[in-house]
Amino acid sequence: MRLERILCPIDFSDYAREAMKAAIDLARQGNGELRLVHAYHLPAFAYGEGAFGLPEMHLRLREAAEQGLSQWAKEARAAGVARVSAFAADGVAWDVVCRLAKDEGIDLIVMGTHGRTGLRHALLGSVAEKVVRHAPCPVLVIRPKA
Ligand SMILES: Nc1ncnc2c1ncn2[C@@H]1O[C@H](COP(=O)(O)OP(=O)(O)OP(=O)(O)O)[C@@H](O)[C@H]1O
Ligand SMILES: [Mg+2]
Repeated sequence: MRLERILCPIDFSDYAREAMKAAIDLARQGNGELRLVHAYHLPAFAYGEGAFGLPEMHLRLREAAEQGLSQWAKEARAAGVARVSAFAADGVAWDVVCRLAKDEGIDLIVMGTHGRTGLRHALLGSVAEKVVRHAPCPVLVIRPKA
């Protein structure tokens, strides 16, 4: 298996951190490129845009996502991956990840079994489950040891 392009979806959880560590190892071993992606999404309110200042919330959300990602990308570079890029996208996480994997010819997706928002007892978080189901490439799901 060639691992030229590895995609690591990041929700800024400890699970995603473990997944990124594995992705870093694989990228280093195969001299591959590591791409980080975070999907952010605003719930749609029924009362129209102005009432809740949605455009500003949207902008803030994106800025926070980009800031967070650039920090994680910095860590991946410091850990020895030469080529790291990061991308924040507006959308539903599993769909953003699968689309990106298809459009960018990703060889492997490395992600956590769970994330920030889920119930512990579920075998896989819903984002992980949908990516495993729909991804155009192999998916490695990482469960932290503890
Ligand atoms: N918004 C997101 N953007 C990018 N990657 C994400 C996002 N949400 C989750 N992920 C990825 O999916 C992995 C599994 O998270 P997931 O959201 O499926 O589990 P959960 O939060 O425990 O459960 P759920 O979200 O279904 O309530 C995370 O470790 C991360 O790699
Ligand atoms: Mg989640």
